[in-house]
Amino acid sequence: MKYYILFGPPGAGKGTQAKLMAEKFNLLHISTGDILRKEIAAQTPIGIQAKQLIEKGNFVPDQMVVELIANIFSSSTNKSGFLLDGFPRTVAQADMLNDLLQKNKEEVTQVISLSIGDQTIFDRLSKRAKIEGRADDADPATIQNRIATYHKKTEPLIEYYKKLNKYQVVDGEGTIEEVFENISKDIK
Ligand code: AP5
Ligand code: MG
Repeated sequence: MKYYILFGPPGAGKGTQAKLMAEKFNLLHISTGDILRKEIAAQTPIGIQAKQLIEKGNFVPDQMVVELIANIFSSSTNKSGFLLDGFPRTVAQADMLNDLLQKNKEEVTQVISLSIGDQTIFDRLSKRAKIEGRADDADPATIQNRIATYHKKTEPLIEYYKKLNKYQVVDGEGTIEEVFENISKDIK
């Protein structure tokens, strides 16, 4: 199985590109953000715990997302691989993902990283707030917190995956079509 990670800051276009990639390359798209928003809407125990954290722009506990991912990996799929969107986003999560895959003699295939500047993030999420009504886009302070949290907790994964020779950066600032073309060229 292939295990791709679509990496990048909030608003980088992970969800947008993941949908296109999943279709073209026959991958199962797994967005931890989407899963958590469904849990919140259904008011499950996980959703109740996640709601306050997400609405302030903070991460949910590592263990919580790793369990969600492990459950999906263990269920059967007719796809060629998995496309992880928004996971891992801490070094601890990346370590736990490695352990999980190693148990099945598998490994991360490639990390595709969408690179965009902080101003673009802010502009895109402020615009999306009016379209999708996501709680964590509504307040500029929450967007800023998500950007700061990304730099502090998620950015270290760039070095982590570079060292493993799995890191591929793609310019995320172009149009949706341009970014997808670049991903399609670079995917292994
Ligand atoms: P998550 O849902 O993953 O949110 P995020 O990382 O903040 O990313 P977004 O979904 O906001 O952006 P995106 O990169 O998917 O971009 P999109 O395609 O939508 O996570 C939400 C929260 O859940 C986290 O903050 C955390 O609390 C929690 N969580 C999730 N995973 C977790 C984990 N592993 N550990 C701990 N906590 C976790 O695009 C954005 C906008 O830009 C859209 O309007 C889109 O139409 C537009 N757009 C996209 N591409 C382009 C383009 N090329 N040009 C112009 N506009 C574009
Ligand atoms: Mg997303």
